Amino acid sequence: MEAFEGMRLDKLLANSGFGSRTEVKQLLKNGAVTVNDVRQKEAKFQIDVAQDLVEVYGESVLYEEFTYLMMNKPPGVVSATEDNWDQTVIDLLDERDRLKKLFPVGRLDKDTEGLLLISNNGVLAHNLLSPKKHVDKTYFAKIEGVVTEADITIFRDGVTISDNYTCKPAELVILQVENGVSDVEVTIQEGKFHQVKRMFEAVEKQVIYLKRLRMGALHLDETLALGEYRPLTPAELTALTTFEK
Ligand code: URA
Repeated sequence: MEAFEGMRLDKLLANSGFGSRTEVKQLLKNGAVTVNDVRQKEAKFQIDVAQDLVEVYGESVLYEEFTYLMMNKPPGVVSATEDNWDQTVIDLLDERDRLKKLFPVGRLDKDTEGLLLISNNGVLAHNLLSPKKHVDKTYFAKIEGVVTEADITIFRDGVTISDNYTCKPAELVILQVENGVSDVEVTIQEGKFHQVKRMFEAVEKQVIYLKRLRMGALHLDETLALGEYRPLTPAELTALTTFEK
């Protein structure tokens, strides 16, 4: 027999984006919540998350322990949960998602676009960001200057950036060079502060546009407009959490 997966009703509602525990208590008091079609006002009422049908004003609550969102990050927005000046990626979420204590898994610079994972699973975030797990990140970049075969070799051997840090081997692919601007793809294993920009600075070139395309097995869904997001599919989540040993 399956184990009974019990959880307090107020906790389940709060974790599902229906507000703080206090706001949820108000919902319960207002008679907004039913469990298996029976009105329930008791915050500590135990729910079997695998079996019980919980509804708020008739809308069923799909309980998931964690949330995983893929965003196509727009430029001009910071990868943080709060900021005194700038809009954050969390500000771009729907109200329901904003209540779920989500955070960006890793950072993209304010002017960088593209694939950003947003979750509330701290263990997954830790694993994805750990250098030991070798989660590759691939970027498309426009570079002011002509990127050469010599740069490819320097990146492959490990380029030394400011602070005297030598990066792990990175793969650089030149897509095209036109009017002194190079389109490239670069895959790095780490996520040092401004890493891609500093790698190109080390070879005396400047990144003028940067977009993340991939993180491990997770590919940016190009149908997402800048600023849009969607939940990961089960297949994406499985692929993302299958780490190298
Ligand atoms: N490298 C950078 O320089 N900036 C980013 O946003 C990501 C990687």
